[in-house]
Amino acid sequence: MILVTGGSGRLARRVLELLLEQGAGPLMTTTRTPERLEDLQGRGVTVRNADFTQEHAALVRAFRGAQKMLLVSTNTLEAWGKRFEQHERAVRAAVEAGVGHIVYTSITFPYPVSPVPLARDHFQTENLLRECGVEYTLLRNNIYAESLLFLLPDAVRTGRLRAAAGGGKAAFVTREDCARAAAGALLRGETRCSYEVSGPEALSFADLARIAGELSGRTVVYEPVEPAVRLAELKAAGTDPMLAELQTGFERAIAEGLLDLTTRDVERLWGTPAAPVSQFLRDHAAEWAQV
Ligand SMILES: NC(=O)c1ccc[n+]([C@@H]2O[C@H](COP(=O)([O-])OP(=O)(O)OC[C@H]3O[C@@H](n4cnc5c(N)ncnc54)[C@H](OP(=O)(O)O)[C@@H]3O)[C@@H](O)[C@H]2O)c1
Repeated sequence: MILVTGGSGRLARRVLELLLEQGAGPLMTTTRTPERLEDLQGRGVTVRNADFTQEHAALVRAFRGAQKMLLVSTNTLEAWGKRFEQHERAVRAAVEAGVGHIVYTSITFPYPVSPVPLARDHFQTENLLRECGVEYTLLRNNIYAESLLFLLPDAVRTGRLRAAAGGGKAAFVTREDCARAAAGALLRGETRCSYEVSGPEALSFADLARIAGELSGRTVVYEPVEPAVRLAELKAAGTDPMLAELQTGFERAIAEGLLDLTTRDVERLWGTPAAPVSQFLRDHAAEWAQV
């Protein structure tokens, strides 16, 4: 039995679909909103209610019966450190429920010196997995290419792509490729290893501005800004303060070169090469280039 947590989330749902297409299983998913997954239930997936904030015994019951688990990192913005609390509850319950292998969605460069405020949660979760006796596979996902769909419309509108990314590059990866990597990791079953899940090319914000200009037919110029200025601008524009910190943290990590890591791990795990971010932006131009 393969369990995918967070079945209502976009990544988890796609992993379940890929596993169904491969005829893998039996499959199970846990979610805070089982009512959203009736279609998957109709396709033979066992759907159970679980929230990583629940008490231990309830989580153990929810995970019982699974041998392998994809632990999808949560997205809470309650406070930095809360994600690790939730992941720790999930890991301890999974071990007690008899899960033998946990695949975990971490991030590139998950070390406390990273300026990404979530890096520590991932660092702690990775260490817990190494220490708690379970077999584990770490998937260090680079930044989602989808994150650009939020940044680029404003850049096209104003002609200015402002970011605290300096001259650094990131190997943006699509959510689809992260899902393929996760499904592949579950099927292959290699343990005690980590994969760097990236796109095939690393781009700077100057590259992104050039692509945004070409695909929109407008002039777009990259304007590097200091992190404190960037954070203040995001907050002034009404961005949730924690999301503003997260975005600025990722941009600082890019500036420091921490996300400039291209690998062929998606291909190793799934058999097909990862999509270049430039292709992703072309395919999704209707969502960001016409403002
Ligand atoms: N690398 C990147 O650039 C990047 C970008 C965005 C997110 N991420 C990470 O990747 C994860 C998956 O991405 P996504 O695109 O699928 O995000 P999403 O669509 O926003 O889904 C959020 C996921 O978190 C789960 N979740 C939230 N709170 C939970 C709780 N209390 N207990 C159990 N599960 C909880 C949700 O499960 P249910 O709703 O089904 O309960 C869902 O699977 C995110 O949660 C985040 O940790 C990475």
